[in-house]
Amino acid sequence: MQVSALENTFNLDETFPRSAHQPKHRKESPKLAIHVDEKNQTFHLQTDHTSYIFQVLAHGILAQVYYGKKIHVKPQYPDLLQHEMKTDTPAYSLDEPTFQKGDLKQEYADTGTGDFRRPAYQVSQANGSRITDFQYDHYEVVQGKKRLPGLPSTFDDTEDDAETLIIHLTDQLIQLDLELSYTVFPHQDVIVRSANFKNHGVEPVTLEAALSAQLDLPDKHYDLIQFSGTWARERHLIRTPLRSGIQALDSVRTTSSPQQNPFMMLARPNTTDDAGDVFGFNLIYSGDFLDQVEVDQWDVSRVLVGINPSEFEWQLAPDKEFQTPEAILSYTADGMNQLSQQLADFYGKHLVDPKYRRMERPILVNNWEATYFDFDEPKLLTIAKQAKKLGIEMFVLDDGWFGHRDDDHTSLGDWFVDQKKLPDGIGAFAGEVHNLGLEFGLWFEPEMISIDSELYQKHPEWLIHAPKRRATPGRNQYVLDFSRPEVVDYIYEMMSQVIEDTKLDYIKWDMNRYITEMFSANLPADRQLEMPHRYILGVYNLYERLTKAYPDVLFESCASGGGRFDLGMMYYAPQAWTSDDTDAVERLKIQFGTSYGYPQSMMGAHVSAVPNEQTGRITSLETRANVAFYGAFGYELDISKMSDEEAEQVKEQVAFYKQHRALYQFGKLYRLDSPFDGDGNVMSWVVVDDQQDHAIATRYQLLNHPNAPYDRLYLRGLNPDKQYRINDSEETYYGDELMNAGIFVGSEFDDSVTVKQSADFSSRRFMINVVK
Ligand code: DGJ
Repeated sequence: MQVSALENTFNLDETFPRSAHQPKHRKESPKLAIHVDEKNQTFHLQTDHTSYIFQVLAHGILAQVYYGKKIHVKPQYPDLLQHEMKTDTPAYSLDEPTFQKGDLKQEYADTGTGDFRRPAYQVSQANGSRITDFQYDHYEVVQGKKRLPGLPSTFDDTEDDAETLIIHLTDQLIQLDLELSYTVFPHQDVIVRSANFKNHGVEPVTLEAALSAQLDLPDKHYDLIQFSGTWARERHLIRTPLRSGIQALDSVRTTSSPQQNPFMMLARPNTTDDAGDVFGFNLIYSGDFLDQVEVDQWDVSRVLVGINPSEFEWQLAPDKEFQTPEAILSYTADGMNQLSQQLADFYGKHLVDPKYRRMERPILVNNWEATYFDFDEPKLLTIAKQAKKLGIEMFVLDDGWFGHRDDDHTSLGDWFVDQKKLPDGIGAFAGEVHNLGLEFGLWFEPEMISIDSELYQKHPEWLIHAPKRRATPGRNQYVLDFSRPEVVDYIYEMMSQVIEDTKLDYIKWDMNRYITEMFSANLPADRQLEMPHRYILGVYNLYERLTKAYPDVLFESCASGGGRFDLGMMYYAPQAWTSDDTDAVERLKIQFGTSYGYPQSMMGAHVSAVPNEQTGRITSLETRANVAFYGAFGYELDISKMSDEEAEQVKEQVAFYKQHRALYQFGKLYRLDSPFDGDGNVMSWVVVDDQQDHAIATRYQLLNHPNAPYDRLYLRGLNPDKQYRINDSEETYYGDELMNAGIFVGSEFDDSVTVKQSADFSSRRFMINVVK
């Protein structure tokens, strides 16, 4: 059972309990993931296809040996340590001129003792010194993987195949312990790392940096692939070669942010979606993060992943400890499609609540783009009734149902119904929706407060602001101080009341601004830099309590669209609103980019009206659905105002999606043509089921060109020896033929393809079914 973060992390006088890793002797199994050579103190972590090796060197210093494609277990690998005497690097001591920290590939580096690259941690002490000297003490191997208290984290509840190695280091002078934790998930080729600091000394220390993972790769011949953007343009792929010096992606917005996503890859320059070496890194965290690569003077590339040190500090009094979030490391030699697939498999089995692992997500209609704030009960029920007729499964009431929220200036924090809009109350309205045979979902923005609210009248001090200074608004609203337990308690109570009144099935948890004037009245002056992390712990605490108390409520996270699309959120909310940009063409890049690091089942994707609200673009209903099908599908327009013909089309889409939803949401996704390549005019991808019997490929075209060159679509993921039909074709095709020779993208598989249908913003769907 998880321990509440409130008990452990909000209260400044409390200590984290050591419940995370109860050492258990590992079962002797012929397929150990963690190999330890006691004599040479070499640790070799093996997954099905990868090896991660490090070794304890002189003075208890941990050196990285290797991470990459699986190699044999040996007692040690002196050649892979790859260091030689450098004249411009300080030596460890006068007696050991060739032992130089700055020349080592380190496992978790300090600063100030000869390694001038950026460190994995920094600890300042009572006398002002920031020098530490952690030395290896001992290790333990623990079977399985337990959740971390108070933080979203990986687990091994069901598979029972993970092993955890914990390396214990100590700084003798100040009696500070450091535990480096490595969990090996062999079948998904994933290693999860984190660090834990515990103060056994008599004086307090302050963590000024505490990253989750460091990886020193032996060369710089990698491209950094990042997913960057902004509101309505989230997670666009950018690929640049590493160069000497520091390149970093980060956030100081107290959200993982749409500007930079914590998922990044390092790929060899020739790596493609189909082939080649690639490392993936991500952080299970929703606040300020740092992903950094520093290429040093010998072209060693140091990767650091963790909480962003620039907005972080944490005081550790004697007997207190600090647990970092977990970082995910994964590698494959088989290209980025493989990396995405192993990560998707991993998140399904070891991060997402097991009940959602393969749970088909409901098809919903959300009223936001249909009505915005302008609705009343009859209007909503008209939409809900139409939804039922069309086969839609859930009605989601978005922003505007509470307080007196007729626009975005008011009422955040007042989580009670606006009776002008819903006179009989929210419970009665939910009852009406349930009586129609639909599930009912509701929008909340739990972390926010409006000045024009009853909550602000009662608790103006809960609004985050710096004393005697003005507070900066964002979307006309302010943020509640979630680092204060009483604030989280209050919001929990209000939300619980509504959840119980409505027998709620789904919550869209939104977050529409970043934090400014970061300050907490609850924290002393010298602990204000703890606030960003404490805020996020408060958010996790509310999620934790709500998901435990109401296990049947499905959560979808949202932050002005896809501004908090991260693994911390995924732990609690298995789906996330991908972007406020619902234009089918814009969504191609957004969903394609997102798919590198996150599974389709996480991506909320809705069909909206045309001309599109964000771009003014007109695309066909068919293309809009063909884009949104590759996610947690829904509609976000006034379906009651559609023509009969459109409504019939929606009905068919809903029926079609229900039939193939498992494949769309959980099938193996292979990206085929990237919208980020060339002129980006074509994008295509395919989902394939586990048995390789069924696949759905879709090819999207932006602009139509007259008399265009011939084009072929090269499928992936099929069984080369099985025979398939495409769109019920008479002709059958071997899998190898479809993958190596490709499909001719003409009218061959679809008689109805006319010039008009292959016009601008068109999409072609290929249903590939095995011949029985
Ligand atoms: C931002 C979200 O991304 C939208 O989908 C919608 O819920 C609005 N907020 C409501 O204010």
